[in-house]
Amino acid sequence: MHEDPYCDVAIQAARAGGNVLLQWVRRFTVREKGPANLVTEADFASQETIVGLIQSRFPEHGFLGEEGLDTSLHGQSCRWIIDPLDGTANYVHGFPYFAVSIGLECAGEMLVGVVYDPTRDEMFVAQKGQGAWLNEHPIRPSAVDRLDKAFVVASLPSAVEATDPAVARMLRVLPRAQTVQRTGSAALNLVYVACGRIDAFWSTSLKPWDVAAGSLIVVEAGGSMTSTDSGPFDPNVSDLLASNGSPIHGELVELLGGPIGS
Ligand code: IPD
Ligand code: CA
Ligand code: CA
Repeated sequence: MHEDPYCDVAIQAARAGGNVLLQWVRRFTVREKGPANLVTEADFASQETIVGLIQSRFPEHGFLGEEGLDTSLHGQSCRWIIDPLDGTANYVHGFPYFAVSIGLECAGEMLVGVVYDPTRDEMFVAQKGQGAWLNEHPIRPSAVDRLDKAFVVASLPSAVEATDPAVARMLRVLPRAQTVQRTGSAALNLVYVACGRIDAFWSTSLKPWDVAAGSLIVVEAGGSMTSTDSGPFDPNVSDLLASNGSPIHGELVELLGGPIGS
């Protein structure tokens, strides 16, 4: 990993945010922002800690954070894109699959991505053009190249109706992959693709803070990031397909049948 002040502060902030999440375990109260869309004091406390730390080092930078934070339109060339707790439903139920996600975008390009899983003390990091690491060890996606041998993960909207096209899509993939899981943290799903624990992940319901950091980590590790119809990946569009870059990617594009996200 290369010395870099942006990367250093992102790692420090992600660790601090993750520690805040652990401190709030069993103390938080839960509120619904929308149907099945949960938030707790831990989400806000983690965001405050992360932003405070980064702002003290880079006061001129902008911020886009899930919990009501958007200073990104004030002419700054760099902005930090933050999900202080990705996987809130998991966190609330004590299912240990949640993370902090922090990406730095400058002049429209992602430069740094950090995803931290405080439960496992796993720090995933990528620097544009330099590679991707897990706890400072370089990572690579898996070599699985057949869908019927693949571990695939889907992300559906939190309050999904049975008639939602996202469900029909999942049903098309289910009989074709070795297994299809819905795990509840897009940021962790992406970095798990990057390090070979998941072979492919698709979603139709994501926001920039879910994917800013993880998408850079996938690409820097050597994986593929596209829209679900194989077009260029855009973090502002809710549809994405991440994979190990093998022919599985094309097989899933065929089955998914193009974007349905909003
Ligand atoms: C959610 C998770 C989940 C995805 C949802 C996201 P949150 O983020 O990433 O995997 O399916 O669309 O909203 O609300 O836990 O930060
Ligand atoms: Ca999220
Ligand atoms: Ca969140």
